[in-house]
Amino acid sequence: MISEDELLPTPKKTIINIRQPPIPTSEIEFAHVVSEESDNNISQTNNIQSELSSLKTERAEERKKRRERTANYLQQPVEERIKVLSKYFGQVPQMGVPVQLTHDQIVNVLNMESLVDQRALFDYANSITESIYGNKVYFRGIIEFSNVCQKDCKYCGIRKHMKVPRYTMPKEEIIEQAVWAYENHFGSIMLQSGELNTEGRIAMLEEVIREIKKRTGGGGPGEWNKGLGIALGVGELSRESYQRLFNAGAHRYLLRIETSNPELYKKLHPNDSNHVWEERRDCLKTLMDIGYQTGTGVMIMIPGQSVEDLASDLLFFRDIGADMIGMGPYIVQDDTPIGEEWMKLYGHLNEEEKKEYNRKLFRLSLKMTALARILIPEANISATTALQAINPAGREIALNSGANMVMPIITPTKYRVNYQLYQGKPCIDDTKEECKRCLTDRVKWSNKHLMLDEWGDPISYFRKRQMEVPNK
Ligand code: 5AD
Repeated sequence: MISEDELLPTPKKTIINIRQPPIPTSEIEFAHVVSEESDNNISQTNNIQSELSSLKTERAEERKKRRERTANYLQQPVEERIKVLSKYFGQVPQMGVPVQLTHDQIVNVLNMESLVDQRALFDYANSITESIYGNKVYFRGIIEFSNVCQKDCKYCGIRKHMKVPRYTMPKEEIIEQAVWAYENHFGSIMLQSGELNTEGRIAMLEEVIREIKKRTGGGGPGEWNKGLGIALGVGELSRESYQRLFNAGAHRYLLRIETSNPELYKKLHPNDSNHVWEERRDCLKTLMDIGYQTGTGVMIMIPGQSVEDLASDLLFFRDIGADMIGMGPYIVQDDTPIGEEWMKLYGHLNEEEKKEYNRKLFRLSLKMTALARILIPEANISATTALQAINPAGREIALNSGANMVMPIITPTKYRVNYQLYQGKPCIDDTKEECKRCLTDRVKWSNKHLMLDEWGDPISYFRKRQMEVPNK
């Protein structure tokens, strides 16, 4: 057998001095660390001590052999290693050259069990990222400016019916965070919040966007290369509101479809006129029509979702023409209907089984990231925060498996505790400076190059519109 942890495109550096999420299962990918710890925990009574020490030696030797086998395997040139994927693709993949896959083929990849084949998949996806974006990684600073929400999504920690203190940051404070991002050489920010489509909210956002643009030397649409890039993630709004925000100077919009299966969507949301899959999909089309660089995504392994659904999700992203993709694992949130369903399904798992569950969840999320890169090669794909909630090196590994963006949270610390979409969300005690430093290091450990002062627009957007790809 080949070593599990070392077969991931894990950065070499051990992660130290970084606050980790309080989820014990997060060590899952570091199988050898976990087993060393449990070795030490075994109570050492005298009569079993010698037995234990020989067991320990055996295990240490096993581990060493496993590592050697992994190292030998990884010595083979990557061009050779990725050939193993031909049994899934029906053709021999070439480094950096994307292939088209059918729904059935995608399902087979998502079900792929062999660790060697998975490593080949991640490396192949990375070769495509590098052929398009080189080793460049871009920052989007997220400002979670309000948790007020009129939606009641059954999985979410800030749904309307959740008892959580509500906040909306004052305008000046939002602008201050944005200016900080600009001064700290972030190319872009993302303004994110719960959903609220009142006139007051739209007018406030318009003003904030205009002011940020003004203070960072930027212009409006058409002036692609000026000021701080602004993305919005504020939910379903009318065409008119989207247009107003675009005119104010926002040029990207992220609206996760959550699932491409309308039936599953009905299960995950209240069945009312405020939660209609078709309307959400139409919002994506409207955003694209207005001219936003548009992103979407789903949660992975949410109760009721099948691997076939996930394969359809990827094809949905491709077919609707997504320029940005943000996907992450579903993470249980107490006091939500889907959280309760999850507990019924998995609450009885013991520690070992939970680790196994998380391991599978992490691997599936990586496969989704890699497949998104293969199917929509020129999109910007995020290494999302939720990945880090289930694996401490989750974002770095994703950056080597198809992702090319990270989103440091720059919300002032005092608000973060009330913007927990799921339990165990990382970074909630951190400051924006810590998030910047931590993610700068993580990008470095991923052997990638952090691009400062650049927008990092998705190439797909310009290609579709037969526009020249700007440098900035
Ligand atoms: N686990 C993971 N992601 C979640 N989101 C909401 N709740 C959860 C959860 N429990 C995601 C949704 C939403 C995004 C802002 O956060 O996909 O679109």
